[in-house]
Amino acid sequence: MTGVSNIPRPHGGKIINRFDSTAKNIDGMYSIEVNYDLRNDIENIADGIFSPLDGFPVQDDFQSIVKSGRLTNGLAWTIPIIMDVDDETAKNMNDAGEVVLRTGNEHFGVIEIEETYSYDKTSVARAIYQTNDLSHPGVMKIIGLKNRLIGGKIEVFKRIPQSPLRKFRMSPSDIRTEIHKRGWKTVVGFQTRNVPHVAHETLQKTAMNIYDGLFVNPLIGKKKSGDFKDDVILGSYEALIENYYPKNRTIFGTLHTEMRYAGPKEAIHHAIMRKNFGCSHFIVGRDHAGVRNYYDTFAAHDIFSDYPDIGIEPVFFPSFYYCNKCLSYANERNCPHGSEFREELSGTKMRRMVSSGEIPAVHLMRPEIAKLIISYKDPFVP
Ligand code: ADX
Repeated sequence: MTGVSNIPRPHGGKIINRFDSTAKNIDGMYSIEVNYDLRNDIENIADGIFSPLDGFPVQDDFQSIVKSGRLTNGLAWTIPIIMDVDDETAKNMNDAGEVVLRTGNEHFGVIEIEETYSYDKTSVARAIYQTNDLSHPGVMKIIGLKNRLIGGKIEVFKRIPQSPLRKFRMSPSDIRTEIHKRGWKTVVGFQTRNVPHVAHETLQKTAMNIYDGLFVNPLIGKKKSGDFKDDVILGSYEALIENYYPKNRTIFGTLHTEMRYAGPKEAIHHAIMRKNFGCSHFIVGRDHAGVRNYYDTFAAHDIFSDYPDIGIEPVFFPSFYYCNKCLSYANERNCPHGSEFREELSGTKMRRMVSSGEIPAVHLMRPEIAKLIISYKDPFVP
């Protein structure tokens, strides 16, 4: 590990910190309830995972993100982080100026209202997802939002209580400190919403041949029906790292936000968050953040050419499969054999594994992971 550090500065230059645990007098202030998913994103803003965002975007920034995939100051930003409310609540919030945020009866933060605004859901959905098809989970979410969006800075004074699912949640400052301690000059980030197959492991370990460290960063948060549940993903990654990864070359941490299924635009968003965590490089394989056939297999590679200024290097991988002739993982760039020799762990095979208890071949899934998955009565999001 000699040479100059490639660890990038955070997106926009500095890690945002909107967390302040000193007691705040909120007596008599107007408060609104947010759901747990939104509270996660508010905590992500507070911890600088979404740097340079220090709150929810005002209308100009929102429109700029949607139309050009950049903030009004030109900085790359493809997925708007938003807070939606109904018309009456928007008016009350506007009148109040500063509003307390809570989940149930637990007050955890405040938002300073800069403006509230309306937006055209159909055109926003089309711009982000490139489709208006209501069977796309991201489109469905946008269409179901309330009528007005809130723009304004947030501050958090109480964190989401610790729980087994959150024991690996870390902030960009935590991860950057760890990277610094280990003396890594390059770190490659890995996003996933899935349980690990050997194909995923091969991507990560191929990258480990080149870069000083690996940051494995599964997404824990709302996912579509049919994806694996969070505790299954977390448990299987813990088992994988414990049994198959060198501890001195790996950092494991979870990212608590929703999957958006926005394919290429979400790949940029995923890369920016990992830049904030201190990664110099970011793995983008096939169908990154995709859902069914909405995006071309490598659309998430192509979009990076629109963002030469993003400040984190994408590491593009072709589709990996197990080749029964090569007797190893391979891809079309390094394997001459036909598709009849290829094996992959498809969704259908996984479902069969769960319903019949049949363990996949060891070259497709590590037995520790397969056993853990089939120990769940229902490992999938309903
Ligand atoms: S994602 O929605 O988080 O992208 P997933 O967890 O399946 O889904 O993938 C994590 C990363 O591994 C993504 O960068 C994806 O492109 C990549 N990937 C998954 N499977 C393969 C494969 N067989 N070949 C190449 N890349 C893959």
